[in-house]
Amino acid sequence: MIKEPIPVILDGDPGHDDAIAWVVANASKDLRILAITAVNGNCSAAKAAYNSQRIATLIGYNGPVSKGQDKPLYVEPLKAPTNVHGESGLDGPALPEPQKELETLTAVELMAEILQESKQKVVIVATGPLTNVAALLLTHPEVKEKISHISLMGGGIKYGNWTPAAEFNILVDPEAADVVYKSGIHIYMAGLDVTEKALVLQQDVEEIKKIGNPVSEIVWKWLDFFYRFHKSLGYPGAPMHDLCAVMVLIHPEIFTIKDMYVEVETTGDYSKGTTVGDYYHITGKEANCSCLMDVDRKKFIDYMIDYIRSYSEVQ
Ligand code: BDR
Ligand code: CA
Repeated sequence: MIKEPIPVILDGDPGHDDAIAWVVANASKDLRILAITAVNGNCSAAKAAYNSQRIATLIGYNGPVSKGQDKPLYVEPLKAPTNVHGESGLDGPALPEPQKELETLTAVELMAEILQESKQKVVIVATGPLTNVAALLLTHPEVKEKISHISLMGGGIKYGNWTPAAEFNILVDPEAADVVYKSGIHIYMAGLDVTEKALVLQQDVEEIKKIGNPVSEIVWKWLDFFYRFHKSLGYPGAPMHDLCAVMVLIHPEIFTIKDMYVEVETTGDYSKGTTVGDYYHITGKEANCSCLMDVDRKKFIDYMIDYIRSYSEVQ
């Protein structure tokens, strides 16, 4: 039986790991990208949209790209230090300039239109703050039934990275995350529990460097940039946070996944932006999330490299 590719909307704030997630999503025959939408996060929404266009050119994606929300639903944007992803939001190698204009529709309008017209249910892959997705659900609640689930990078059941308790994407817009987690749409949650195990090591960068196609030439330099930053913080490698949210759609068997009820702390002196997971099912509430807790790192990296290598055939 022929397996139909899963239709996906990629929403993010590229960002090195967003970019690599999209390189893989575009290479996978199991996914069909309906749109790319950019959101404020690692950088402004305008920079994220421009980066999205340049990534689209690099990977040969010709579908719609749209700019989304400039700031979180209610709070002011949180400025990420530029040493994570650089001043442009995607520093490192020179990228090809956009070959296609941005859509005139905003990200929310575009997502709504696509979902309304879609005959199949669509997966939203969200790898930045959840502002666009929450704004979509608030303004177009009727499209919920067209979303099969949301696969997101955000939060962490056990710890944070921006505060001891909160992860960056959720902390930037906790109210948006709250809307998404309470939406009734099932979530695949790639939190820090798994993403900090999905590490690219120096030898992996070297292997990608050897591939020598136009996409791998950019990817190894992105990884080099991201790796150096994380090494300076004491990480053993570069965490492929956002790629986990894509990889779980195409290779779920390499992850350890635990279902639980998760809610978002929107206030609190110490805990704002925390994803509070009911790990031991204490509340008795039905699970709204499938939480990725662990991954076979070797298989994850091997798959990533295979997808990058596959660009040799299409260039
Ligand atoms: C998240 O923050 C960003 O820097 C990454 O792209 C990822 O989405 C990790 O906390
Ligand atoms: Ca991101």
